[in-house]
Formats: sequence, C-alpha cells, structure tokens
Amino acid sequence: MIAGAPASGKGTQCELIKAKYGLVHISAGDLLRAEIATGTDNGKQAKEFMEKGQLVPDEIVVNMVKGRLLQPDAQEKGWLLDGYPRSYSQAMALETLGIRPDIFILLDVPDELLVERVVGRRLDPETGKIYHLKYSPPENEEIASRLTQRFDDTEEKVKLRLQTHYQNIESLVSIYEDVIVKVNGNTTVEDVFGEIEKLLTSSLDKKTEMVAS
Ligand code: AP5
Repeated sequence: MIAGAPASGKGTQCELIKAKYGLVHISAGDLLRAEIATGTDNGKQAKEFMEKGQLVPDEIVVNMVKGRLLQPDAQEKGWLLDGYPRSYSQAMALETLGIRPDIFILLDVPDELLVERVVGRRLDPETGKIYHLKYSPPENEEIASRLTQRFDDTEEKVKLRLQTHYQNIESLVSIYEDVIVKVNGNTTVEDVFGEIEKLLTSSLDKKTEMVAS
C-alpha cells in the first residue's frame, strides 16, 4: 500500500514500482475518475465529493476497490494499492477479508511543496503518464500539446484535500503500525524510488525466506 498527502508522489512512484515488480496498480482515485468519465451514477455522486476535496462515501469506494482487488490478475501478480484505504472503515473492510499489505509506504513531503506540485501537474491522456511542468516536463511538443489537467488540481482544492488527509491518516497509522514505513518524498523521483526499491526488495526477500522454510 502507498499513502501520502495529495501530490506527495504516489502515482509517480506507482508507475516505477509497477514497471519493476510487475504488481497490479490499483488507484482509488483513478477508478473514481474512470467512473466519472463513463458518466455512471457512482461517478456523478463521486465527483461532488471530489470537487470539495472530501472522501467519497464508502458505499461507492469500498466495493469498487474490493472488486478490483479480488480480480485474478491482482491475486496472481500481487497488488499495489494507491490511495486506499484512506479511513478506519475502509481499512476494516479489508481486514474482514483478511487482506493486509506486506508493507505500507507513507510518503512524507512538507505541505508547502504540495501546492506547487499540484498546480504544475499535467497528465498524458494517451499514456496515462504523470508530468510536472517544472520537475518532469514533457519530452516533446507533441506530448506537451495534448496534456490535460485534473479538475481538482487547484490551489483552493488541494488545501481541502490536505485537510481531509490529515483528518484520516492517524487512524491508518495505528492499524498498520507493524508494516508502516515513512519515506522522504522531498527528493528527486529517482531517489525516492531508490528508497522504496530497498524496502520492497527486503520485504520480498523476507517473504521468499518464509516460504522456503
Ligand atoms: P487521488 O487521485 O488519489 O488524489 P490524491 O491523494 O490527492 O493524490 P494525487 O493523485 O493528487 O497525488 P499523488 O500523490 O499521486 O502525486 P503524483 O505522483 O501525481 O484522489 C482524488 C480524490 O478522489 C480524493 O480527493 C477523494 O475525493 C477521492 N478518493 C480517492 N481515494 C479515495 C478513497 N479511498 N476513499 C474516498 N475517496 C477517495 O505527483 C504530483 C505532481 O508532483 C506530479 O506533477 C509529479 O510529476 C510531481 N512529482 C512527483 N514526485 C516528485 C518529486 N519527487 N519531485 C518533484 N516533483 C514530483
């Protein structure tokens, strides 16, 4: 599992983790945006909460994520949950299914950097790649011309999202205290990934040893 404040770098690191470890990346935010894009009732309701920077109600989110998590590819290859759980009740929904992570990565980035990261973020709708106008600019003009911005990526909305994050994160810390690791997210993308790589490789080694013994 990977958690952290809005724009702390979860999605960016998930792309790299997925490429190296072949895990199935399940992002609650991406699943919700897909519902919005297809115009479902769940999507319409979810958008109202996302606009306000609030958590989308459990009735929508819990089954949506559980359903994805239980699909065969995630069960076979292993999963990487991004932005879920975000509250005590969401974590409990997984606990009752006996689903726990091997490791819970909490990205730590000072609040004052998050606004700049959010307003500069752009997405490539063709590849799904995450860019930043200053820190990870697009490779060429063709990509630059098709980049889009998320509807909740404004300074005003990120402040609300940040408040929601702080209201909920402590309850998760207590549930996952045996597997939680704080990672400094205030370095380059590559350095953050280097830290995560060390943690994941050591966690995998431990798992392999346990299976062998
Ligand atoms: P979600 O889509 O999950 O948004 P979020 O948590 O606010 O996180 P972001 O996606 O904004 O940021 P990120 O940490 O992935 O950062 P990124 O890698 O893109 O959720 C959106 C909304 O959906 C929520 O507000 C809520 O309403 C709802 N929702 C979602 N999950 C829910 C749940 N479980 N329950 C209920 N509701 C839920 O990076 C950001 C920018 O910084 C990019 O431009 C990137 O290029 C740049 N960057 C990344 N790393 C670095 C670095 N090391 N140095 C410099 N720049 C960097």
